[in-house]
Formats: sequence, structure tokens, C-alpha cells
Amino acid sequence: MKILTTGSHGLLGTNILPVLERSFTVIPYDIEEWDITDRDAGERTIRDIRPDVILNLAAYTNVDECEDCLSLADRVNAEAPGIIAKLCSDHNIKFVHISTDYVFDGEKETPYREDDETNPTSVYGLSKLSGEKKVLANCPDATIIRTQWLYGHGGINFITKITKIAREQGVAEVVNDQRGCPTYAKDIADPILLLIEKNRSGIYHVANAGSCTWFDFAREIFSCLHIDVVLKPITSEQLNRKANRPRNSVFDCSRLFRDTGHRMRTWQDALHDYLS
Ligand SMILES: NC(=O)c1ccc[n+]([C@@H]2O[C@H](COP(=O)([O-])OP(=O)(O)OC[C@H]3O[C@@H](n4cnc5c(N)ncnc54)[C@H](OP(=O)(O)O)[C@@H]3O)[C@@H](O)[C@H]2O)c1
Repeated sequence: MKILTTGSHGLLGTNILPVLERSFTVIPYDIEEWDITDRDAGERTIRDIRPDVILNLAAYTNVDECEDCLSLADRVNAEAPGIIAKLCSDHNIKFVHISTDYVFDGEKETPYREDDETNPTSVYGLSKLSGEKKVLANCPDATIIRTQWLYGHGGINFITKITKIAREQGVAEVVNDQRGCPTYAKDIADPILLLIEKNRSGIYHVANAGSCTWFDFAREIFSCLHIDVVLKPITSEQLNRKANRPRNSVFDCSRLFRDTGHRMRTWQDALHDYLS
């Protein structure tokens, strides 16, 4: 089977492609080969490559920047996935698209299920929700994987940022009023493979098991790495970022288990694996 991936040089692509390559012939495209907002480029790419599956990892992911760039967020995160979905439907290609916990407002007290009401509170979340809707309208057999709080090899992420601050300043202030599940990007690969293999469609929540706040996550990171640091809890209000983030975005991943038999490992096990 041939799988064409978009946005392949990003965080998720960097971490899952080596795993996907064990089961698929992977064609790893990024914006240089295929700007997903370009419909003609999409047509050409599909004609040239003739993939069995397209996995859309491309997105405009700078959540704060999106607040000032509505139109770009809409083009990349909503319009483009809709275009790819239509192409997949026309050419009988399986489409797998990635979405986010930011489609929820975070007001629910318990873990979010796939059919819970969405209500994004940021431009990024709105654009990603619009993308989900366009994908399913144009390609009802598509699979949408919502994930959250990703970290992994390559580039900058929460772990690299917070350890740099701790080592340089000896003190780190971390938000303690947002709860979610940190997820090792590599751990998304097996669910993708299984969902394709079992020909599942619709929306799936995929994240490492358990939950914590960013503060708890930082504490675990420093403990694993034996970094001596003064860790201070702060509120989202104190951090004062441009875009709003959900206070609770913990996922219920039982649909994934029901339909594939795959259980995600805990965020602590995944973190220890990553740091080792
Ligand atoms: N990271 C997270 O915590 C997280 C959480 C939940 C969901 N997700 C979702 O997971 C998916 C992958 O995210 P990620 O963290 O891997 O993002 P990322 O590191 O920002 O990677 C996205 C990739 O897409 C490329 N890209 C941007 N615009 C494009 C365009 N018009 N055409 C083609 N490629 C384009 C980017 O290229 P440039 O770098 O050159 O712009 C980059 O290589 C996204 O759908 C995201 O919404 C991520």
C-alpha cells in the first residue's frame, strides 16, 4: 500500500513516519512538494503518485498567531482539508485527517467523547472544526483523528522549552489550570495503521492514557531528568496568551479500543520512553 503524507516534516510526521514505513510505502510530501491550499497541485500529485491513502499532517499550528491570521488559518486548516477530501472521494483514496482537542471549549468536567458537543474558543480551534466538517461532508468515509498536547523528536516542544528555561534560570512557572493528556507523537502511528487496516471511518480520540496539568507534566519531566528547579504553578490568566485554551480537554479513547483493540499507554510510560 502506498501512503502519501502532507506536512511530513512537522512534529507528528517526524515521529510517526519511521513507524508507518514498516507497513507502507510512504511518500513524505511537505509544502515544497504540495501546498495543500493549491487544488491543482493536489490533482497533479494524486495523478503522479496514485496513493491508496492520503494522511493529512499539514496544518497551520501556531495557535496564538492564528488569532491574527483568520484567513490563513481558514485556508490551511479548513478549506484545504476539504479540497483533499473531495479529491480522495473522487479518486477512491482513503483519507485520514488529523484534528485537535481545541474543537472543545473545555467546560466539561469529564473526559471528552467523540460525539460531545464542540465549541471552539480560538481561531485555530474554529478553523480545525470547520476542517473536520468539510472533510466529512466531502468524504464521508474519511477517518479523523483528534489528538492533543503532542511532543516528540525534532523541533521545539514543551519539553525542550521548559527544560531550557529550568537549566538557564533555575526557576519555571507553569500553568496549573489546564488539564489534558500529554501525548508522545510516535504513539499516534499504531492507531493510524490499525484504523486504516480495519477500514474504520469517522472521528477517533487518540491520546496517551491518564491526565495531568502542564504543571504536573513539568514536574514529571524534571523528576525524570533529575533537574533541580523551583517550579511555580500559575494560572492561564497570569500567562496571558493571545488564544484561549480549553481548561479540560482530556479524551475518552474508548472508541479506539472498541474498534481496534488498541489501548494507549499512560502518559508517564510514554514520557519515560521518550526521555530514555
Ligand atoms: N502539536 C500538537 O500538540 C497538536 C495537538 C493536536 C493536534 N495536532 C494536529 O496534528 C497535526 C500535525 O501537527 P504538528 O504538530 O505535526 O504540526 P507542525 O509541526 O506545525 O507541522 C505541520 C507541517 O505542515 C506544514 N504546512 C503548513 N502549511 C502547509 C501547506 N499549506 N501545505 C503543506 N504543508 C503545510 C508545515 O510546514 P512549515 O513548518 O514550513 O509551515 C509543517 O511541516 C495538525 O493537524 C495539528 O492540528 C497537533
